[in-house]
Amino acid sequence: MLIAGGIGITPLLAMASELKMRGADFHLHYCARNQNKTIQSNELMELINYGKATIYHDNGDPSNGIDLKKTIRNYEEGRHLYFCGPTGFMAAIKNEIKDWPLDHIHYEHFSAVSQEQNLGKNLNTEFLISLNRSKLKFKVEANESIIDSLRKNNFFIESSCEEGYCGTCLTRYLGGEPDHRDTVLNEKDKKDFILICCSRSNSPELVLDL
Ligand code: FES
Repeated sequence: MLIAGGIGITPLLAMASELKMRGADFHLHYCARNQNKTIQSNELMELINYGKATIYHDNGDPSNGIDLKKTIRNYEEGRHLYFCGPTGFMAAIKNEIKDWPLDHIHYEHFSAVSQEQNLGKNLNTEFLISLNRSKLKFKVEANESIIDSLRKNNFFIESSCEEGYCGTCLTRYLGGEPDHRDTVLNEKDKKDFILICCSRSNSPELVLDL
C-alpha cells in the first residue's frame, strides 16, 4: 500500500509504476488539496484507469479526505506500507499504524524538519491557538496544521508550499512556545514569527497576531 500526501507523490508514483510493471498487487492512495494542487501525469491516469490508484481532494479539511482509519488501521498479513508527504500528513498516518509490524512500515518525510523521530513517539499533540486581534481561540487537532484549523473556522490564509520552505504563511506570534518545523526562518526570525503551515506549539496555547 502506497500513500502519498502532496509533493510526496513524486517518489511513490515512481514506485507504483515499477510495481505495475512487475505485476505486483498494490494500490496507490494520493491525497492532494484540490485539482489545482494535483500533479498532471499520464502515469497516474493510467494507474487510476487500471484501478490501481485513487485520488482524494480534501479542499483544506482533512475530514473530507482519505479515511485513514478505514484504510490502514488494521494490518493485514504480508502487507507493506510506504508513505511520504508533509509533516501533519505523516503524523496522521503514524497515529493509525501503531499495531503494524515496524519492518512493514517504510516512510520518508517530504518536509525538511520534524520532531517525529520514531514511530509511536513524539507524535503530534493538540493545542490551542489564541488569536490576539480577533479575540478567538481554536483547537489545532493532532492530525491537522494551524492553517487547517484556521481554514476550518473560515479564516482565509494565503499559502503555497504548505511544507515550510516558501515562507508564504509567515505569521507573527505574541505568546507561547512555537515548535518550529520550517526550513526558512533564522534564529532571529523564530523569536517573532512562525510558519503556520507546518510548525506547531510546544506550549498548550500559542498566541498569534491574527
Ligand atoms: S506555505 Fe510555504 S512555508 Fe507555509
